[in-house]
Amino acid sequence: MGICLSAEAGEVPRAAELGLPRNFTVFKELGAGGEGRTYLVRERLGNGRSELFAAKVAPRGAGLDVGYLLQGIKNQCALSHVNIIRLLEVILTHSHVIIKLEYAQGGELSDYIARQHAQSSSQQLSEEHARFLFMQMLDAVAHCHERGIVHRDIKLSNVLLDSGKCPRVKVCDFGLSRELFTGDSRCCPPAGTPMYMPPEVLKNVVRRAHTQHDPVKSDMWSLGVLLFTMLLGRFPFGAQKPFGGPALSRGAGRLTRSQGNISAGAAGPRDFQRSDFRFLLRNMVKAHSSDLKRLRSETWGTRKLSPDCRDLMDGLLAMDPSKRLGLADAFAHKWVNGPLFLEHAQTIARGREEMEKRQDEGEGVKGAKAGLEDDAELAAIAAMAAAVGTPGDELLRWTPPRERAGREQAGVADEELFDLPGGLRDRAISI
Ligand SMILES: Nc1ncnc2c1ncn2[C@@H]1O[C@H](COP(=O)(O)OP(=O)(O)OP(=O)(O)O)[C@@H](O)[C@H]1O
Ligand SMILES: [Mg+2]
Repeated sequence: MGICLSAEAGEVPRAAELGLPRNFTVFKELGAGGEGRTYLVRERLGNGRSELFAAKVAPRGAGLDVGYLLQGIKNQCALSHVNIIRLLEVILTHSHVIIKLEYAQGGELSDYIARQHAQSSSQQLSEEHARFLFMQMLDAVAHCHERGIVHRDIKLSNVLLDSGKCPRVKVCDFGLSRELFTGDSRCCPPAGTPMYMPPEVLKNVVRRAHTQHDPVKSDMWSLGVLLFTMLLGRFPFGAQKPFGGPALSRGAGRLTRSQGNISAGAAGPRDFQRSDFRFLLRNMVKAHSSDLKRLRSETWGTRKLSPDCRDLMDGLLAMDPSKRLGLADAFAHKWVNGPLFLEHAQTIARGREEMEKRQDEGEGVKGAKAGLEDDAELAAIAAMAAAVGTPGDELLRWTPPRERAGREQAGVADEELFDLPGGLRDRAISI
């Protein structure tokens, strides 16, 4: 089936403005975050085939955080999972660094949930439906942790979906990810998105401290917040709505920027005060009952959730990280193993089968990881990205080892991407 493409004229740069040659076309902006913008881009490959991808774009120059860039690229390249966005290539143009990513056509999880809320009479995502999405999140995060990587910024806008009717989850944005076992991951500067940060990380922000914490347990907390927002349509510890629309109640103004992330080393987003972090911490304590292992009944509001569902969220949102559920506990939890709609179960089963096949074909940890030579090449590209000019008009391109084998078969036939309804045809931006 073809994909319809239309450009939002005037809102996207021309390919040439990003330093890309004539065979690239920029169609629309997919998102913008702290580290640049992401566009939908097509590359004509010249063999009658075209490739559609998401391009995460940042201007080159001294302002670029090379360490951040390199860390995210290396970590994402070490992963190979059906529920994680593939990193296809790194392109350096004379003006920009472009990370070419698998395109998640279904958009952000938050929009999907908002659509489900709008469609259903109850305005709520059913527990079965949330289970389907959450199981895929667990699979993705388990893969990261098995490969020694913590994500550190799990949140609605970093969870994307493919185009399926029962969509596959695609976790993106490894900008804040870290390698476990490198020594610094337990006490590295606090990073993440305030509304999804566990209390031990928030405390570090408030105290400007680097006290050791377990980043694996931080990811588990963020998963708890994610599940809560999926089922209740609001954050557990803040007054702000995660799906757009007006803020819910008191204190929302103070937390309006809480969905943007904090990159490593910064004390907080520029417009997010330390007092806001304190406010968030106080909300967390207030939302828990005295033993800090259970959320108070008021926190759940009027939504009727099964006891198993609440028990799982209590376990993920335990204030004490040593009492918080780990991944193995989550996989074994009764709620996670509860019923699924048939089509949802099939999507999950197909994903898991595909993963088993990849393992059988020998795509082990070593196969997926970049070798020393690749590390050196990547480091050189990142260093060049911090300057401008080189390599002139030529593109410098680096492909992760796992993607190299399939390059000749990459893309789809040109015609498939030209399935444009007549009216939209001439609105596509080309150079
Ligand atoms: N591969 C992709 N396919 C489709 N949309 C994407 C893709 N990658 C990113 N996006 C969109 O762009 C947004 C921003 O991308 P990303 O999260 O990678 O950037 P960021 O600058 O790190 O954002 P933030 O700092 O807010 O977390 C995403 O939330 C999503 O809406
Ligand atoms: Mg993001």
